[in-house]
Amino acid sequence: MCGIIGAALRRGNAAAEVYEGLERLEYRGYDSAGLSVRTDGGTVTVKRGGRVANLKESAAELCGGVAIGHTRWATHGEPSDRNAHPHVAGKFSIVHNGIIENYRELKDELLQSGAEFASDTDSEVIVRLLDKYYSGDLLAAVAKTVGRLKGSYALGILCEDFDGIVAVKYKSPVVAGFGEKGVTLCSDIPALPEWVTSVSVPEDGDIVLISAQSASFYDGGLQSVNRVRLPVFAGQFNGGTGDYPHYMLKEIHETAATVRDTCDAFFRNVDVKRLTEYVRNADRIIMTGCGTAYNAGLAARRFFSDKCRVFCQVEIASELRYSPVHITGSTLVLAISQSGETADTVEAVSALKEAGARVVAVTNCGYSAITRVAHMVVPVCAGAEVCVAATKSYIGQLAALYLISRLTADVFTARSELLSAGEKIAELLKDNGGADKIAEICAESSAVFFLGRGIDYAVAVEASLKLKEISYIFSDGYPAGELKHGTLALIDDNTLSVIIICDESLSEKCENAACQVTSRKGKVAVITCLDGAADKLQDVAAVWKIPECEANLSPFVSAVALQLVAYKTAVSLGRDPDKPRNLAKSVTVE
Ligand code: F6R
Repeated sequence: MCGIIGAALRRGNAAAEVYEGLERLEYRGYDSAGLSVRTDGGTVTVKRGGRVANLKESAAELCGGVAIGHTRWATHGEPSDRNAHPHVAGKFSIVHNGIIENYRELKDELLQSGAEFASDTDSEVIVRLLDKYYSGDLLAAVAKTVGRLKGSYALGILCEDFDGIVAVKYKSPVVAGFGEKGVTLCSDIPALPEWVTSVSVPEDGDIVLISAQSASFYDGGLQSVNRVRLPVFAGQFNGGTGDYPHYMLKEIHETAATVRDTCDAFFRNVDVKRLTEYVRNADRIIMTGCGTAYNAGLAARRFFSDKCRVFCQVEIASELRYSPVHITGSTLVLAISQSGETADTVEAVSALKEAGARVVAVTNCGYSAITRVAHMVVPVCAGAEVCVAATKSYIGQLAALYLISRLTADVFTARSELLSAGEKIAELLKDNGGADKIAEICAESSAVFFLGRGIDYAVAVEASLKLKEISYIFSDGYPAGELKHGTLALIDDNTLSVIIICDESLSEKCENAACQVTSRKGKVAVITCLDGAADKLQDVAAVWKIPECEANLSPFVSAVALQLVAYKTAVSLGRDPDKPRNLAKSVTVE
């Protein structure tokens, strides 16, 4: 969802620093990239449609102490050179993440006063307003400009008259990072350079003046404000793909460590006593999130219904936002988000908080928007997740939710169960040949359906999302019992149904579903942790027997198995699993 970065350096070349930052930040959008740098001869801007790499040669020719850069996920205006940021007018150059909702009205006004536009973006109105309002007082021009904007914006601004960067934050993420080389700004902590040792997170409405030495924060009324410095450490940063061909495969291999680290952090950092009271006193629990985070809630609902005697519902945040549910002061909301910045989730839980609910954020990113809304934070310790498709963060969310569901019963037993689930994941990853055969059949199928019952159904939904988003094969995940209520009509010999069978109490019913599909000539693959099911279904196109696991813990293993299937399918079709088309990580617009 567009990434912005900037650097004001005491030593070194800020253009190179920003270019490297764009490579790290590319997961936020890869429709175009650009940068502006202050050089001895004035500000120079280069931008290109497509991937960051397209900018490499021209960026390499630039040198200066202050620069800003942008990776774009197009919302207004097609992906092209013309619509790439930075946008330039007069003495200004800007990069923007967010959406300016009133840009049409502002553009008409600017056109009438003689401005000429060089792009089709909403963002360009910002630089045109700055140019219009500037008469020597930079802060005043910035304040007047942002006062005209409706929507969301994280901005990096260069002005010919200021040897630094102005950053502005409103409902889109940006942090200021500090270290031995100088000061930087960046959309996300994981994309900061490794020399950064501390960050300050601006509040909504803040304007920040950044120089190579320091950063000064002002509120919307231009009063100086203090924003604390928080330490960051190397483990939070994107450390590259290492020995793996893609981030996705690397991150799948980090799932077992994520379970362990999430357990450790739960007992080390969470106020377990207070959280237990929240759960014990809850009249109901509402879990919410988007995409994979929502799917983690779907699986976790089973954890809660099994061990925690509280009514529990799971809601898609973008729907919850506009169809508020009945809330009391005892309602507990679990806000699930890897990035902690997903606009729909942040807005939905802000509304529930305002209505009186207690909000607990389950997130992989401390210092994120959701942590500022929540009464309490339960950390997911997946480290930097760079692949656009969520893998290890989903497993970490499951681990955190599993622990919360057991707070009023036997949380220490839950911890050892999770650690043993982590061992099963490691076992699966050592011997994952079963994924190859299923991936081969997926790749040659016109559609792939994922079916399961109970907790296996929740895994089916996530498996389907993973496959479709990175392989572009049509896919759906649904409860196996629903097959005969409609989806059977789609089954033919070009389709594959992947049946997940890890809950022994429901396994016979799932075996029936396999028969219903094969008798309509549909292909069937089975992923099961049960010897019995594996033996009985030998005749289907593929059976992958994964390590044995109790039903509630099985998603930790079966979901990782299905992540591998999606990965291998995408790679065999020549797709880039880390940067699927049309998508971006961290959806900070509605
Ligand atoms: C899918 C995926 C997305 C995210 C969703 C929510 O692989 O990554 O569906 O899960 O955009 O993102 P967060 O968890 O950052 O709120």
